[in-house]
This record gives sequence, C-alpha cells and structure tokens, in this order.
Amino acid sequence: MNLPKGGIAFFDSGAGGLTVLSSCLRYFPKGVFYYYGDNARAPYGNRTEDEIYRFVKQAFDIFLSLKAQAVVIACNTATAVAVEKLRKEYSFPIVGAEPYVLPTACKGGKIFILSTRATYESVRYKKLCARAREKERETEILPFSCDGLAGAIEAHFPALDFCLSEYLPRGKPTAVVLGCTHYIFLKKRIEEFYGCPCYDGNDGIARRLCSLLIKKEEPQGKNRDGQPLSRVFWEGRPLAPVCVYKSKQKAKKRRIFAQKLRFFRIFFLGSGKTKNVKIYKQMFVSIKN
Ligand code: DGL
Repeated sequence: MNLPKGGIAFFDSGAGGLTVLSSCLRYFPKGVFYYYGDNARAPYGNRTEDEIYRFVKQAFDIFLSLKAQAVVIACNTATAVAVEKLRKEYSFPIVGAEPYVLPTACKGGKIFILSTRATYESVRYKKLCARAREKERETEILPFSCDGLAGAIEAHFPALDFCLSEYLPRGKPTAVVLGCTHYIFLKKRIEEFYGCPCYDGNDGIARRLCSLLIKKEEPQGKNRDGQPLSRVFWEGRPLAPVCVYKSKQKAKKRRIFAQKLRFFRIFFLGSGKTKNVKIYKQMFVSIKN
C-alpha cells in the first residue's frame, strides 16, 4: 500500500468512529491518520463475537503493514468483544472505546446506557456496569440495547431525520450514556428526546491516546503564546479543526480554516472509504456552521 507509514489508525464498523477521530485530532496538530471503516459489513451490533473479531483483524493486519504507531478502536462493540484478544496479538498500543459509565454514574440519578446488542451482551460491559453499581449504590444504572439504531444511522446518512422513538427505550432518565460511537451523531436529538444530557467517552479516548503518544516531560515546541504545546493538549483546548482535503486550494475554497490544513493528513481505508470521506466533509461543514 502506497501510504505514508507510522500514522495513528482508527477503526470502526462504519461512520461512528469519525466522531472519535474528530475528537482526537483536536489534540494532535500534526501527523498522519488512517481511518478504516467497514461500512459494507456494518452494523456489527448483531453479529457474533467470532465474526466481529475476524473483521477487526483484517483491518488490524493493514495497520500492521502500515506500521501504525497506535490504533484506536473507535467502536464500543469491537472493543467490548475483541480488545483483550487483539492486545495479545498486536504489539502496537491499542486504545479502546468504552461507554462512559463510571464518570456518569457518579452524578447520581437514573442513568440510561444505550449500546448495541453485542456490547450489551458482552462480559466486559456487564463487568463495567457491575463496577459502576458497586461504586455508586445510589445511582440507578439501566443498560439498554438499541437494536437497529446504528444500522439506521449508517443507512440514513446524511439525513438522520428518521423516527428515533422506534429505537430508544422509554422512560425518564436524568442522564444518558451513548455507548456506541454512531449514536453521537444524534446526540442533540437524543438529548431533546429525553430532556436530559447525553455523555460520550470521546474526549477520554483522545486523552488516553495523548498519554500514550505524548511524553509530557519532553518539550513539544511552543504555540503562539509561548506555551509548550503539550500543555495545551492536556488542557484539551481544540488546537485546530479537523478536515479532509485533497489540495490546499480546494480546501481553501471551502473556507475550512485553510491555514491549518497542512497539518492534517487523513487516509481513508476499508469498504466505507468513499462514504466516510463524504460524511467527514459534511461533519466538518456542520461543525463550522
Ligand atoms: N460504532 C460502533 C459502536 O460504537 C458499532 C455500531 C455497529 O456497527 O453496530 O458500537
């Protein structure tokens, strides 16, 4: 494969991981990134563990050939069923996506955790919920599997105006955890549906990636205010927007923070390559607006 080697790789069953990629890019002003979306075989949520593991491995072998410096499994489902096995097989650091249960549970109240069926049924997720219940005894922690929701999101892009109530459990939670990266595209609508805040783990994933790749003690250069860049990363300030581009001129035309574009090099892989580039561009435009 004729791509630059040594980038940071992202994997998802489809488009959901783009939300993770965009959160991570805020912390990395430079670098090469690969985004592998297996959209043709998405959703993974109703597949067996063996199938999911086999599909993820196909992407990981490509990351290996690209000498990826780290891999982010931007998919709760793949993390829930395969991360432990994958860590034993591959030597690059792997960051997984896990529903943001513990930090949300400590807020108290009644928490709905929405995920795919495969996540919901996984041992890893059950342990996570049990830990949260043990730690926060006063909080009501209610996991639900939203069958079909990730698939509907994949199928309806870019018009995500389908009827949400068909997929969401009824009730009056005080907070909702989005345990699938696809659901993040509907964060606002889900918040409106329940009338409460929704939480996701994307920023936590980005911070974990930083802690793996940026050695705090090494100077990372200075920003315009003379602050060390690494400090700025740690404060979580968006350093630069995310963008997909073919040439500097084309990107400039779109007026997408053109001065920063030279920093980003994202290579789309997998069966959903074309679709994901398109979605990513749309996301970027909507972020801008
Ligand atoms: N985006 C994925 C997740 O976080 C997978 C959704 C699916 O393919 O079912 O779980």
